Amino acid sequence: MLKFDTAYYKRFYSDNGAHDTEKIAHLATAVHHLAAWWGINITTVLDVGAGMGMWRDWYHKSFPDVAVQSIDVSEHACNTWNHEQRDIAIWRPRRKFDLVVCHSVLQYLDDASATQAFANLAAATRHVMYLELPTKWDFENVIDESGTDLQVHHRSAPWYRTQLSPHFRQVGAGLWVPLNGTPMYELEACR
Ligand SMILES: C[S@@+](CC[C@H](N)C(=O)[O-])C[C@H]1O[C@@H](n2cnc3c(N)ncnc32)[C@H](O)[C@@H]1O
Repeated sequence: MLKFDTAYYKRFYSDNGAHDTEKIAHLATAVHHLAAWWGINITTVLDVGAGMGMWRDWYHKSFPDVAVQSIDVSEHACNTWNHEQRDIAIWRPRRKFDLVVCHSVLQYLDDASATQAFANLAAATRHVMYLELPTKWDFENVIDESGTDLQVHHRSAPWYRTQLSPHFRQVGAGLWVPLNGTPMYELEACR
């Protein structure tokens, strides 16, 4: 897994990062407390493609009683930031987690692997999944090319929705809940 080596993490995180610990703290705070608003008590978290481990570290600092399992396919990331080495296209956890985080990962997987990964993410999610990935439209309209890895799969939002819709309902802002999961008001989540 040569792509995800020291140079990769230096290029996209240390030098000119898409996000950093401060931004992750804002995001993780919002996700954790929005879940609380829905009555979801997050006690277990799975961080998929954890990279430098920013979500895991935020939980350890902010909510040390929450059990976080972090996985990454990169041997370098696992050795450096202490994750289990797993490929989410292949690995399906035997138990569910209250919150699953998959932040900026699935754009690296080819179509078949991403499809398998969505099924594995669905199997892992008890209450909430936070998902972020750039679509083709994002690359054309939103993304700052200087701080983003462009050597990824550029797929459409409809393609991703086709993968997600058998498993999840979209809440918004990157949050997805399992079908038949926590009840939402009609205007709180998409049908
Ligand atoms: C852009 S980094 C994101 C790191 C972290 N999630 C974050 O947002 O700070 C992408 C990460 O996904 C990992 N990754 C890529 N393919 C993966 C796979 N099939 N299974 C698990 N991790 C994967 C890479 O090793 C890398 O650490």
